[in-house]
Parts: sequence; structure tokens; C-alpha cells
Amino acid sequence: MNMHNIHKTALIGTGYWGSIIAKTLTKITKKKIIVFDKNKQNSNLLKKKFKQIVAAKNINEILLNKSIENIILATHPSINFKLGKEVLKKKKNLFVEKPIVTNQNKLLKLIKLSEKNNKIFMGGYIYLYNSFIRKIKTILNKKQLGQIKFIEIQRKNLGPIRNEIDSHLDLGSHDISILKYFFKKKVVVKNIVKRNILKKNISDISSINLKIGQINCEIISSWLNPTKERKILIIGSKKMLVFDEMEKTNKLKIFNKYAFYPPLTKFKKDYTSNSARIYLGKTKKIKVKENDTLRNELIHFEKKCFKNQEPLTNGRFCLDVLKTINYKS
Ligand SMILES: NC(=O)c1ccc[n+]([C@@H]2O[C@H](COP(=O)([O-])OP(=O)(O)OC[C@H]3O[C@@H](n4cnc5c(N)ncnc54)[C@H](O)[C@@H]3O)[C@@H](O)[C@H]2O)c1
Repeated sequence: MNMHNIHKTALIGTGYWGSIIAKTLTKITKKKIIVFDKNKQNSNLLKKKFKQIVAAKNINEILLNKSIENIILATHPSINFKLGKEVLKKKKNLFVEKPIVTNQNKLLKLIKLSEKNNKIFMGGYIYLYNSFIRKIKTILNKKQLGQIKFIEIQRKNLGPIRNEIDSHLDLGSHDISILKYFFKKKVVVKNIVKRNILKKNISDISSINLKIGQINCEIISSWLNPTKERKILIIGSKKMLVFDEMEKTNKLKIFNKYAFYPPLTKFKKDYTSNSARIYLGKTKKIKVKENDTLRNELIHFEKKCFKNQEPLTNGRFCLDVLKTINYKS
């Protein structure tokens, strides 16, 4: 194979998500993309679908290939530490799908190895590259909703059901990454309710209660739900925001609605009321230019590798997410 015709980023793991990554890479480059999966059926299937894909016979065809500078791991958290170490030891830049690993010490070791070898290490917290999430951040920065009172994030679907990690780590970690991106303050988990339904030791449905300064937040994660739901609700003192990813159009809305209890000092002595005052104004549909989030994320990775700069979701960001979830009550 002509070495000049090989894309500098290769992929290990071509299961469900890895296949989507491979497809996205074919939109970024016209060069050959080398992939490897220990399950040959998976990589061969991908090779059949896309002319650009080359299925490596073994992992060393990627690790020892001098034309390959960056490696993406879309494998499982239980194998990512071992594979990640091999990639960094071979002095290649590393992208690992979230949540990377479950153990903080292992993640710290990967970070230190990447720093020692002067290599880029990025985690796949994809929502930080999503145009709606970025728009919500600017809305929050401009304080358009008033003082934030409460946030609820729901991420539910029927599957993919994981064998190794809890639903709050698999799904809720996305939402922790989003909250960390929105606010500069520390995200503190207060408690996690886990519902183990299909297996004894793995939660299928979970709810994380957390605080960011004075703001209460709830994250609900489930892979045991008949419908796909992905919703962020932000209650402000002046307005309320809803981002519904499953809506075809008008995914992001700001409701000019709020409720408050007037201070008791304002009441006449002979009159008190328990009723809150409710304000109902117009709802605004926020226009956001939609683009391919995964493409944005992969281009960010390749650019940062090329410039040798820290990515937005670098190893330390991912460690912060993992530490937040692995809270000790
Ligand atoms: N960013 C996102 O939105 C997003 C979405 C889905 C999944 N993910 C993450 O992607 C990762 C993979 O998830 P998935 O749903 O694709 O799982 P999957 O089981 O469908 O795919 C994993 C693949 O890795 C391969 N693999 C395992 N060990 C290997 C090894 N040692 N060498 C080579 N290949 C190996 C398996 O054969 C399989 O094909 C998970 O960490 C998951 O959390 C991220």
C-alpha cells in the first residue's frame, strides 16, 4: 500500500460507535483509513461498505505504522487502559471514547504518560462539540434566563445495554461533561440512586443529584425505556429553556415564563395568599445552525494533534468528570 495514501488517524474498535466514527472519517479524508477490530467480522463488514476502509490483520499493523500519527479507541473501558498505554508508548496521539476507564488512577497514569511523551490525549465527550450545547452556553453566559434555579437532564432509550459499567457512568457522564462546560464552578454529586434491573451489579436506570454552587441539578439516565428521550431543562428566575434533541425542528426553545412567591412584607396585614404569581410570556424558538457533531469532534482532535495543543476534552477534563461521578458520600 502507498504510505502517502494512508490517513494519519486510524481506528481501533469497529462496533456500534466505531462504525459511525469510521463513516465520519470517510467524510473528512479521501485517503485510506486503517481500522482494526479483534472481531474480524466487524471490521470486514465496514470494509465492504466503504472502499476507503482497510481492515488491518492485527493491531501492530496500526501501532507500528509510521504513517499513522493518531489513534482512536472505540473499544470498551475494561481494555482501554491497556490499549491506551500501548498507543502512547508508541508515541502516537490518542483519542479514547468516553468514559475511557472506570478507575481514576488508571486515567491519571494515561494522562502522565501522554504528558511524558508529549502526545495529545483526548476523551470523546462529544456534546462539547455540539452547536446547540455551545449556543446554550452563550445564553447562560449572557444571563438571559435570569438566576439559574434548577436543571434537569434526561437521557433515556432502549439500549445500548452495557455489560461493564453503570448507566450513570455510561450515559450520565455525558451530562456531567455538559454541566462542567456550562459552569466554571465545581460540580458536586450529592447522591446517586441506582436501579439494577437486568443484572445484579449494574444499574440500568439511575438518577444523579448534584449541586453547582446554589443550583440543584438532576440527571436521569436509562437504557431501559421504550422511547428515546434526550432533554435538557433549565429553570431560570426570568425564563425557562428546553433543549429537546429528539425534536425534528425547533430543538431549542426559551419560554418566557416564570413563577414566584411575593415577599410576605408586601402583603397587607389582613390578607395573605399561598399562591405563587405566574408570568406567561411568549415562547422563543432559538435558531441554531445544525452540523455534524462527531465530525466537529474528530476535526478538533486532528487539529489539536497537528498543532500539538490541548484539546477541549483533554485527559484532565475527563479525569474531572470521572472524579465527579466516582464521588464518595
Ligand atoms: N460518544 C458517544 O456518543 C458514544 C456513543 C456510543 C458509544 N460510545 C462509547 O464507545 C465505546 C464503544 O461502544 P460501542 O457501543 O461501540 O461498543 P461495541 O461493543 O459495539 O464495540 C466495541 C468494539 O471494540 C472491539 N474490541 C474490544 N476489545 C478489542 C481489542 N482488544 N482490540 C480491538 N478491538 C476490540 C469489539 O470487538 C467491538 O467491535 C464505549 O466506551 C462507549 O461508551 C460513545
